[in-house]
Amino acid sequence: MKITVVGAGKYGSTLVEKVARAGYADEIVMVDVVDGLPQGLALDINQSRPIERFETKVVGNNEYGNTVGSDVVVVTAGKPRKPGMSRMDLINDNAKIVGSVAREIASTSPDAVVIVVSNPLDEMTALFRQVSGFPPERVLGQAGMLDTARFADKVATALGVSPLAVDAITLGSHGDTMVPVPSKVTVNGQPLIELMDQGTMESIVTATRQGGAEVVALLKTGSAYFAPAAAAARMVESIAKDEGAVMPACAWVTGQYGISDVYLGVPARLDQSGVAEIVEIDLEESELAALQEAAEAVREKQADVKGLG
Ligand code: LAC
Repeated sequence: MKITVVGAGKYGSTLVEKVARAGYADEIVMVDVVDGLPQGLALDINQSRPIERFETKVVGNNEYGNTVGSDVVVVTAGKPRKPGMSRMDLINDNAKIVGSVAREIASTSPDAVVIVVSNPLDEMTALFRQVSGFPPERVLGQAGMLDTARFADKVATALGVSPLAVDAITLGSHGDTMVPVPSKVTVNGQPLIELMDQGTMESIVTATRQGGAEVVALLKTGSAYFAPAAAAARMVESIAKDEGAVMPACAWVTGQYGISDVYLGVPARLDQSGVAEIVEIDLEESELAALQEAAEAVREKQADVKGLG
């Protein structure tokens, strides 16, 4: 099992370390344009192996030579937000970067399953698919796992319970039209709607939508990476181990939820083929309407992105 992570920033390097430590990959190649950065980080992670007890070899490189024939590729390359910026403010700069990565990966790892995490997420996932020419089921984006984790953690904090007691899901875009789904949240198996008043629930939904910006405002020099890397690592694991686990992902929708031909956050079954299936869960009418609204918002932007990469 060979995995490539493009981008050795905080997100990319944290992800590499998490996946390496899990031990199921033979080799992870970390690619970045900055001379010495991926090489130095690879050396550092490899030197943690005797302590952490794993054998996965990490290789750092400025070119794509060592990435040839990767089974899974994660694209983290691109600029992060600064305080006050929306993810959409990154679209022109990051489209150029993600477009050039897509061309490299298409020629070096033509059979890979690709997870995009660069922002604006839904648009960069669509752009990678267009430029690479890969089948849509082999290109997906990470956002829903992260947004769901933020939603669950905020619910747990508000109720004073363990974050492990909360089961939640977040769909839609990784942006203003994100759709946290309160009707599906349970706490120790009990529906959240029985445990929390409407007002508190609504403020948690709003805070979840702004969860990324909340971290950016505090950090000032970049965006979140521990929870985002954990989210991407879980997706990589389900694909690399051919688990077929169902989790929220930005995937190409073909009629599910009454929506077609757009990348959107939906529950997806992830295995070695990429998105094996999009799973339709029962939604309340207002939640379904919000998901359809999100689809139309990203459809417009995804059409704009054509040609930027
Ligand atoms: C966030 C960025 C990574 O939500 O999109 O933190």
